[in-house]
Amino acid sequence: MHWGKRYCRSALGLALAGIALTLSGCAMNASPGPAATGEVADKVPGSDWPGYGRGDDQQHFSPLREIGEGNIGQLGLAWSMDLAPGNSVTEPLAVDGVLYFAAGLSVVHAVDAASGELLWSYDPRVGEKGGMNMRTAWGVRGIAWSNGKVYTGTQDGRLIAIDATSGKPVWSVQTLDPGLPAHVNGAPRVFNGKVIIGWASTMGVNRGYVTAYDAETGEKAWRFWTVPGDPSKGFENEAMAMAAKTWAGEWWKYGGGGAVWNSMAYDPETDTVFIGVGSPYPWSHRVRSDGKGDNLFVGAIVALDMTTGEYRWHYQPTPGDTWDFDAVMDIELADLEIDGNVRKVLMQAPKNGFFYVIDRVTGDFISAEPFVKVSWASHVDPKTGRPVEIPGARFDSGKPVRVTPTSIGGHNWMPMAYSPQTGLAYIPVNHFEADYSDPPGKWKPSTDYRADAGVMILGGPDFGTKPASGSLLAWSPVTQKPVWSVKYPTYLNGGVLATAGNLVFQGTIDGWFKAFAADTGKLVWQFDTGAPIIAAPISYRAGGRQYVTLLTGSSMGIAMYAPTMVGTAVQKYAIDPMTQQRRVLTFAIGGDGELAAGPAPVPPPDDPDFREDPDRIPAGAIAFASHCLQCHGDRAIGIGNGPDLRRSYIPLDKQAFDRVVRGGALEAQGMPKYPEFSDAKLEDIRHYIRAQMAQLRDGTSKRPEKSSISY
Ligand code: HEC
Repeated sequence: MHWGKRYCRSALGLALAGIALTLSGCAMNASPGPAATGEVADKVPGSDWPGYGRGDDQQHFSPLREIGEGNIGQLGLAWSMDLAPGNSVTEPLAVDGVLYFAAGLSVVHAVDAASGELLWSYDPRVGEKGGMNMRTAWGVRGIAWSNGKVYTGTQDGRLIAIDATSGKPVWSVQTLDPGLPAHVNGAPRVFNGKVIIGWASTMGVNRGYVTAYDAETGEKAWRFWTVPGDPSKGFENEAMAMAAKTWAGEWWKYGGGGAVWNSMAYDPETDTVFIGVGSPYPWSHRVRSDGKGDNLFVGAIVALDMTTGEYRWHYQPTPGDTWDFDAVMDIELADLEIDGNVRKVLMQAPKNGFFYVIDRVTGDFISAEPFVKVSWASHVDPKTGRPVEIPGARFDSGKPVRVTPTSIGGHNWMPMAYSPQTGLAYIPVNHFEADYSDPPGKWKPSTDYRADAGVMILGGPDFGTKPASGSLLAWSPVTQKPVWSVKYPTYLNGGVLATAGNLVFQGTIDGWFKAFAADTGKLVWQFDTGAPIIAAPISYRAGGRQYVTLLTGSSMGIAMYAPTMVGTAVQKYAIDPMTQQRRVLTFAIGGDGELAAGPAPVPPPDDPDFREDPDRIPAGAIAFASHCLQCHGDRAIGIGNGPDLRRSYIPLDKQAFDRVVRGGALEAQGMPKYPEFSDAKLEDIRHYIRAQMAQLRDGTSKRPEKSSISY
């Protein structure tokens, strides 16, 4: 991020494990009095949270300590703001007392952080522009701020700069061809005057890249491809020529994957940006690369020159990935004392279950240990930095193989936090097992925006040796050992915030916003938000007061990642998006606000003529799961970005249903159209939805024992 005159480069060495220092020798810091309150040394003004993860180092750590263990009991709601339905998982930003966040389809909001008053909102009208792209509809997880501008990506592949004062767009570029089966869902970042952005996809042929643009003008500075293209056409650079040697077969026909959909961090000392590269496409190593080679740079962390975009080094946690072990979980930077030496490191807890500490200057492997149960590799060889795989883990015997972690990840994108004060990383962990196998028949890339990546994954909350669960894990990157952990009843809980008040904040999928003592893990505060929490909280100062803010509400991610968990969570943990208002919640010491109740649940409509036709149900269930589940939830139990169809009148009326589903009547509102559906397919889906309505009416709505997520 660009701080102009306010930028203060404090010595990185100050942020050593366990050492809390006041910010000194940093007189040009113009923010109100951080030194006076004894903040931990930090590179951006302590009062602000100006970028995803807060600083270039992405630590998700606030140096503020006005809210601390001693007074956390008085933490209460200062204000709340209701949000429209749709995505509500962004991490907000706070700059000079103004809060910025995106909700729904990249609708950017600016709010007075002290009063909660809306200053402006900007709607890039994604529903009108998205076309086929709308079928994936994740919504963005974060935005960027720099030098008076706010930046957001959009579903339809735009990167837009917005004037932070007026809310008017300044420039817009198309960073992704809107015709590709891909979309932007990660936060852009601004490093050294450039805004850098990737994108996401598992929905069809794609070849990953990141692009950097001049933050002021939007002029393209450089693009780095993460996967080599067709060798007969030549390579863009030496890095691609090198990477091509690690592939086999005709991978370029599938694009190869490698989307940079979440993590980036920046080291200003070396002008290096670190990008986390996603899974290959397809996921199956056998299909895309004849089962041979490491397949660079998929599932790797790549260091690039931020000015030129040139390759510097890479480290690949999962060579030749075949399990969907993205390396896109947040990359966090710190200086750690390891074996008596101060090492400049980057840390990542990717999906594959190992916690990695890498030298961020050289790319050298330092250490990796499993932070969850890992069944695919026994350990990482300290000499080579390569995993030692367990024979059979690649499910190549023709039989399903139980694997943990899974594509849900030992840790997914919900960010961990690192506290330079305790020297610990705080990881939102998932405990989940599944059976992996090859899908029957010859795999072909999907052409209609279905997640179909050539691997069959069969799992569920009660699957495996233990029921799936989640935890918050405090982990020492120096000793590579757990320090404390807190168990949660289910997985996919929210992102984490650590503060210099010896606090760690996290929201849970069952609606609690909790604070723990950062050193011991003792629960010191909790608040029932009445809605699932996925987003990460932030902390900042406005008008001389420290606040903690987070967004609440479910997203497509939940409906999509874990259909069976949705069923469990709906029943056991009372996730009900129809009655759980999505909100922005802001907390402060002495806050005494109360949350109004959400809207009353709408009963399912009467449908006296409906007779369930057992012949129609299987086809309807499959079509619904392939096309509608990611937004309307498993078995139409609304949990994602779309409404609960069991309570809608539209499926009762054949023509109205046709107008919405094939005709695109609600396209501008984010409901994609499916003009290619046959009459029979449309009717199968409508029938299936009406059957789910009937189950809701007579109280027999039940979760199946296990469900198949076939990618
Ligand atoms: C990418 C997300 C997404 C997908 C995929 C999706 N929908 Fe929707 N759908 C929505 C949203 C958002 C709305 C609400 C639009 C609005 O605000 O009016 C909606 C609304 C609807 C409605 C109208 C409900 C009402 O009472 O207003 C129907 C019916 C519907 N969807 C059916 C389907 C079917 C059938 C499929 C699969 C073939 C599907 N949708 C796939 C997002 C999605």
